[in-house]
Amino acid sequence: MTDIGKAGTYWLCDRSVKRIGYGAMQLAGPGVFGPPRDRDAALAVLRAAMEAGVDHIDTSDFYGPHVTNQIIREALSPYPQELTIVTKVGARRGADGSWNAAISAADLEAAVDDNLRNLGVEALDVVNLRIMFGDGHGPAEGSIEAPLTALATLRQRGLVRHVGLSNVTSAQVAEGRRITTIACVQNQYNLVHREDDALIDELAAAGIAYVPFFPLGGFTPLQSSGLDAVAARIGATPMQVALAWLLQRAPNILLIPGTSSTAHFRENIAAAELALSAADLAELGAIGG
Ligand SMILES: NC(=O)c1ccc[n+]([C@@H]2O[C@H](COP(=O)([O-])OP(=O)(O)OC[C@H]3O[C@@H](n4cnc5c(N)ncnc54)[C@H](OP(=O)(O)O)[C@@H]3O)[C@@H](O)[C@H]2O)c1
Repeated sequence: MTDIGKAGTYWLCDRSVKRIGYGAMQLAGPGVFGPPRDRDAALAVLRAAMEAGVDHIDTSDFYGPHVTNQIIREALSPYPQELTIVTKVGARRGADGSWNAAISAADLEAAVDDNLRNLGVEALDVVNLRIMFGDGHGPAEGSIEAPLTALATLRQRGLVRHVGLSNVTSAQVAEGRRITTIACVQNQYNLVHREDDALIDELAAAGIAYVPFFPLGGFTPLQSSGLDAVAARIGATPMQVALAWLLQRAPNILLIPGTSSTAHFRENIAAAELALSAADLAELGAIGG
């Protein structure tokens, strides 16, 4: 079995987690809406994650909605003490599966309540405020003061232990750090989407974790002849190489690759033991550079 500890650990404020974790979004149904096609398979992935020593799971109550958290609770509660569950608030699903911004103080309190109830915990370890300014997809400028202050208030009430940000710009991280302690930033980043290169370095200098979403390309997994060539040369799969590249990119990067498959999960965590040479890194670096 893979020793995921080989990839090291990093801090989410006062919580140390292994750098290879698991992203639970793929456990809901198609389009992250409704129940999974195979509930037993979803439960099995989570149990495989615990057996492998994963101590960091990323989720949200808007996956399903409610479904992913309920599956996590069924598979893992009572939770191991060392497990850190990171969730996110800031969106609400429409009846048609649409993703809608929901960042009023009342929305955020309701979302925290939903997460507490469906995960079955008294306090949430880490809650990311997911920002949906602009078209809602990539980060867009605008003040996050009102929603972040509302979330910080829920933290003061003891419902949330730590706060993070998702889909944010460098200016929003700076604004957020003036309001409360920021445990982590979760933005899209992978071998071919490198818009956050400077932000990652800023956060590394500040000791803040950077947790890339879509580390494997998301709904359209990464396809690159350069990635395939390196993988073939070193006898690994392209997904393993993409994850190993992220691990070496910066010490504050924590991985949460998503999968609904135990076989893919095991394949992905083996990235912890993959060594990339300077030549491999140069070749991979040129893909998104
Ligand atoms: N903050 C945000 O706005 C945000 C947005 C998106 C996601 N997230 C979080 O980030 C996590 C990771 O993102 P993600 O799951 O969307 O994308 P991802 O990790 O980049 O990729 C997941 C996709 O890759 C496939 N896959 C996984 N391992 C594979 C392998 N070894 N071989 C081939 N295909 C493989 C999965 O399909 P199978 O199920 O078939 O393996 C799935 O289609 C999510 O689980 C979620 O927790 C956050």
